[in-house]
Amino acid sequence: MKHYLSIKDIDSLTDWVSEARNLKSNPTEFKALGKNKTIGLLFFNNSLRTRLSTQKAAMNLGLDVIVMNFGSEGWALEYSDGTVMDQGTSEHIKEAAQVVSQYCDIIAIRAFAGLQDREEDESEKVLNGFKKYASVPIVNMESSVGHPLQALADAITLAEQNIKKRPKVVLSWAPHPKALPHAVANSFIEMMQLQNAEFVITHPEGYELDPRITQKTTIEYDQKKACADADFIYVKNWSSYKDYGKASNQDPDWTMTKEKVGDAKFMHCLPVRRNMVVEDAVLDSDQSLVIEQANNRTYSAQIVLKKILENN
Ligand code: CP
Repeated sequence: MKHYLSIKDIDSLTDWVSEARNLKSNPTEFKALGKNKTIGLLFFNNSLRTRLSTQKAAMNLGLDVIVMNFGSEGWALEYSDGTVMDQGTSEHIKEAAQVVSQYCDIIAIRAFAGLQDREEDESEKVLNGFKKYASVPIVNMESSVGHPLQALADAITLAEQNIKKRPKVVLSWAPHPKALPHAVANSFIEMMQLQNAEFVITHPEGYELDPRITQKTTIEYDQKKACADADFIYVKNWSSYKDYGKASNQDPDWTMTKEKVGDAKFMHCLPVRRNMVVEDAVLDSDQSLVIEQANNRTYSAQIVLKKILENN
């Protein structure tokens, strides 16, 4: 594997999850692998979990780590070819990616969707710009359309619960005061499509995700019906895909409650708005897996970095 850009870069989800769980039991076993090598973590957007867990994973593998808040501290980058750069951008991605490649053996990037222009977001100009012009492997730490490190951590968390051979897993939309990207939901769906599970997506009408991602996954517009008899309920807000980036619906009836969760395990990628997305009683219960999901972010990043180091 050269790059880790999406769930499609996983050749066997079962094997990766199994290897990640082995790493979790002995995190520093492969500490020699990254010796004298450097990873650069470039953040164009904020983070808590991704920043710390990816750094921790890299340290477990013996890598040196450089972190840069590119969005606030770097030069504004130009991505178009042939532009007369007489406006706000100061440096072209062509030079920036080649320069960072001289300092780093792996480059990991976080660059969210702007949610203004669907075509521009789907072009993944930051991630694909670095992929095109860098000479080292690229890792997606959440891009416009995907968050594959999160989805891999979620797969580890699901496997650890070992509830049944074919669990019922529900991805439920929930209200949020801001318009949020589709990345987490997209990668979770792509990951679930590789699982042996009864998988259902529930959201209000108008919040359908990209049909190229949902494909034939069952969509149920009645949230209570969708959640009935679920083993896992994964909650996430996203803005409209059809009316791109708009978030007109904040219906509190979609907030996840203890009643709707029933006996299911509760999952969320964090950060989460308490009592807007999900009520306290769920988050503070033993049924919540959110802290373990965050813990597993280290091992999802570590298995990805280990495979890159072994293959490059
Ligand atoms: N889940 C997740 O990616 O968290 P951060 O945005 O804090 O990195």
